[in-house]
This record gives sequence, C-alpha cells and structure tokens, in this order.
Amino acid sequence: MSDPELVAFLRWALPRLGLRWPGYRKVRARVRKKLNERLRELGLPDIAAYQDCLVAHPQEWAVLDELCRISISRFHRDRDIFDHLRRVVLPGLAERASERGAEAVRCWSAGCASGEEPYTLRFLWERELPAERGRVPLRVVATDVDERLLERAREGRYPASSLKELPRELLQTAFVRDGEQFRLRDELRAGVEFHRQDILEVMPAGPFDLVLCRNLAITYFDEEGQREVLRGIDERLVAGGYLVVGAHESLPVGVSGLVSCPTRPELWQKHADG
Ligand SMILES: C[S@@+](CC[C@H](N)C(=O)[O-])C[C@H]1O[C@@H](n2cnc3c(N)ncnc32)[C@H](O)[C@@H]1O
Repeated sequence: MSDPELVAFLRWALPRLGLRWPGYRKVRARVRKKLNERLRELGLPDIAAYQDCLVAHPQEWAVLDELCRISISRFHRDRDIFDHLRRVVLPGLAERASERGAEAVRCWSAGCASGEEPYTLRFLWERELPAERGRVPLRVVATDVDERLLERAREGRYPASSLKELPRELLQTAFVRDGEQFRLRDELRAGVEFHRQDILEVMPAGPFDLVLCRNLAITYFDEEGQREVLRGIDERLVAGGYLVVGAHESLPVGVSGLVSCPTRPELWQKHADG
C-alpha cells in the first residue's frame, strides 16, 4: 500500500479506536508491516478491501487495535530523565519513606513493554543509591496489555539493541552475557511484579510514590483516554508523589492536581496537600 493510502486509512481508523493519528506519524511503517501481514492472512488485495472488511465484520476492530500497539522500549530510554530520577527524585523518595517508617517506596510502570523501564528503576535503586538501599526497598508494579511482552519481561533476556542507552558500567554490572543476548542478574529482577492489564479497564490498586506512564497514553490515546488514564494515576499517587511522562509528551490542558517541575517538563508532582 502506498504511504498516502496508509495515512488516509489510519486517519479514518485510529479515532474509531480511541487513538490519535499524530502519535503514529513516525511509527507508521511498523503498523504498515503488520497491516500487510493481516491483509495476506485474510487474502485481501488492498487496504480499501480491509476497510470494507472492518465495516462488514466489526469483530475485526479488536484485531486492528492489537496491530496498532507499538512496543518500542529501551533500558534507560531518554537517559536525562533517568539521571534526574537517580540524582534527585529517588533519593528524595527514599528519605521520605524512611522518615515516615514506610515499608517500601512504591512505583508503577504503566505500559512497561518487556520490562526495560521497571528494571531500569530497579537497578538505579540497587546500584546507584547504596546508602538508601539498606533503609527501604523499592517495589515496582509493572503492567502492560500484551502478555507476550510480559513473558519476555519475566525472562529478563534482551538483545544488545535494548541496552544501547545504558552506561557501560551499568551494562557490565547488571547483565550477564547469554549467547547473543544479555540476561539481567537475578537479584535485579526481584522486586518487580508484572501484571497483564489494559490500562483503560483496570489499574493496580496503589498507592504509589512514583508512576511512569511514558510513550503510551499521551502519545497514542485520544484526549478522552488520556484524561481517563491521568485521573486514575492521580487517584493512585500519594500527595507529593511523581508522574513521569515521555520526553516529547505534554499533559492535556486543564489537568488539575499535578504540577510540572520547572527544570524537567516530563516530570509532574502531585500537590503536597493532594
Ligand atoms: C511504546 S511502548 C512504551 C514502553 C515504555 N513505557 C517506554 O517508554 O519505553 C507502549 C507500551 O504500552 C502498551 N500498551 C498499549 N496499549 C495499552 C493499554 N491499553 N493498556 C496497557 N498497556 C498498553 C504496549 O503493549 C507497549 O508495550
């Protein structure tokens, strides 16, 4: 299918799935590949025939919804924000938790893909905050709608391409080579629990001190979906807790309860009296 045909199709279909076209602009080649496979499976000649198929067989929308999921992730993705979490946010959360005698600092990685994001948090905590480590543990709940990705996450084995943003020392101390792949050390896999959840239907109970919801709701969901997810996150964040969104994401106007941190636009804090 030509690019204009693909774009016209996505502009027609995405809003019907509660998704937004601008989020897909850069990743549309991935969707095209999956759409072409689906056309072959169904024996359809072109995207116009697939559009007719969606109209005639509404159950096909669920298949398309799955085809439109983008699962790109990497360890330490957008390293500036992880540096800031390591230097400022995590030590602050550790201190607050130990002052109030909390059992753990609690985090939620929403749309965790194959575990790259929650495991990054884990090893920053274990390897980079030695003083806090003895005081209070970090617990991470990681959720994603795609069970296949979660299986890979539980396994903890990754190709080199997933690790390219990691500083060398972290790569060497956190992973062991396993053939062509790298396996995360067992002690760093502990403390992360993975659950299959569609964020538009169910969210973990909370409360959380830190939530990462990056490159999911704000990039791909329409405004109603974004607001629904942000409401759920706000309800689960403790007063003074943090939300991290993607490096190129900004919250829709009028979201109350969360204040942007002046030096880090992707970091939001819930009102201390929230
Ligand atoms: C682009 S990846 C982002 C991964 C990671 N947060 C990051 O920024 O590197 C988006 C993830 O969200 C998941 N996802 C998509 N729709 C979802 C939904 N409705 N509920 C939960 N997860 C979803 C996808 O399966 C995918 O793993």
